[in-house]
Amino acid sequence: MPLELVQGDIAAQTTCAVVTAANKELMGGGGVDGVIHRAAGPELLRAIRPLGGTPTGTAVITPAFGLAQQGVKYVIHAVGPIWRGGQSGEAELLAGAYCHSLRLALEHGCGSVAFPSISTGVYGYPVEKAAPVALAAIAEVLAKRPDLRVRLVLYDVGNLHVFQRAWEKFAAQNPNA
Ligand code: AR6
Repeated sequence: MPLELVQGDIAAQTTCAVVTAANKELMGGGGVDGVIHRAAGPELLRAIRPLGGTPTGTAVITPAFGLAQQGVKYVIHAVGPIWRGGQSGEAELLAGAYCHSLRLALEHGCGSVAFPSISTGVYGYPVEKAAPVALAAIAEVLAKRPDLRVRLVLYDVGNLHVFQRAWEKFAAQNPNA
């Protein structure tokens, strides 16, 4: 499975596409989005503003601007759900944000994509619940496109361990993944 779990900073990646955890207004924000916007520069906000937003569970793609210096071609702005207790379609929306991001990367000819853990910061999605959803969504796309390289970049070691345990469980239940 061409999936890698690493601890690190999403803005330091050199993949073809880097995903940011955006809001549906695409207004730029804090957390991962703040880090990506600072690294890419003000042109990034100028590029997404005219798009006027995108629904929760979807994503849009722009050039990477300043991140191009390190080889990144595209920033994918993925909108995950705000956690409301788990009964409001959060899992489907989170899976949608990952799948749509991967589809956009493939449509733009990318062979590698780096993701942060969408929705598990300001949006409050418990990482223990988000990790299996994220991994299943990514695995579903990779089953059809094993040529794509996906890296999940976890900022802190605690989240990395949660994703690693979730991956072990997923792999045990899906031996062909
Ligand atoms: N690299 C990788 N992961 C990081 C980094 C980093 N440099 N910094 C934080 N994280 P968040 P959300 C982790 O809040 O929950 C914004 O304001 C962090 O530990 O960035 O989807 C947007 O504009 C957490 O696990 O995204 C939206 O309004 C994860 O990244 C809203 O926040 C996601 O945290 C989106 O909230």
